[in-house]
Amino acid sequence: MTQDELKLEVAKAAIAYVVENDIVGVGTGSTANFFIDELAKIKDKVKATVASSEATAARLRAHGFEVLDLNDVTSMPVYIDGADEITASGAMIKGGGAALTREKIVASVAQKFICIADGSKLVPTLGKFPLPVEVIPMSHAVVARKLNALGGQAKLRLKDEKPLVTDNGNYILDVHGMQISDPVAMEASINNIVGVVTVGLFAAQGADVCLLGTTNGVKTLQ
Ligand code: A5P
Repeated sequence: MTQDELKLEVAKAAIAYVVENDIVGVGTGSTANFFIDELAKIKDKVKATVASSEATAARLRAHGFEVLDLNDVTSMPVYIDGADEITASGAMIKGGGAALTREKIVASVAQKFICIADGSKLVPTLGKFPLPVEVIPMSHAVVARKLNALGGQAKLRLKDEKPLVTDNGNYILDVHGMQISDPVAMEASINNIVGVVTVGLFAAQGADVCLLGTTNGVKTLQ
């Protein structure tokens, strides 16, 4: 099976976690896009959605979903999103698609985080995938020096040879070479660097359920 076929399988499996006539929090990325297209097949059973990026909001609206402002939402049963890396205990690296801040905010409102990923994302230790960190633009150099002091090599993410600008108007540093043996502690210490908006470590609040696409079917970790 191709990676896209595995992503489609987990997207289909995630539909079982959607609570009928309630709000669905929706992530960002290629796996989340498969999920959105599957969700469209049961649109009548979805009260409304909350999106973790402008791209996701546009795809949801194109399918005819109502996309709520998170400020108008006090609770939602599930948030469904992909990951760049995930451990068996549910700690994740996210932000390959630059949406980490809104993803973390929307996930914080949901009762359950359902991670959907192809099997290649499961790792024993986080850190092979460069760790995304969203930063205030004026702080990218000082934050990069502090991340380098933690043992990484921070690189400003570029798009068309210019700094990539997130939906929030910020920049992304991708930190290479981090050995993340204690994801909760590292999440807290990077969050404490002045100028950091969000680190793409989802560990203090990780995934409650992970649906992993493998050639032997969808495996559920919880
Ligand atoms: C978006 O910012 C990310 O957190 C994505 O959820 C993550 O990069 C997974 O993306 P894919 O589903 O495209 O692999």
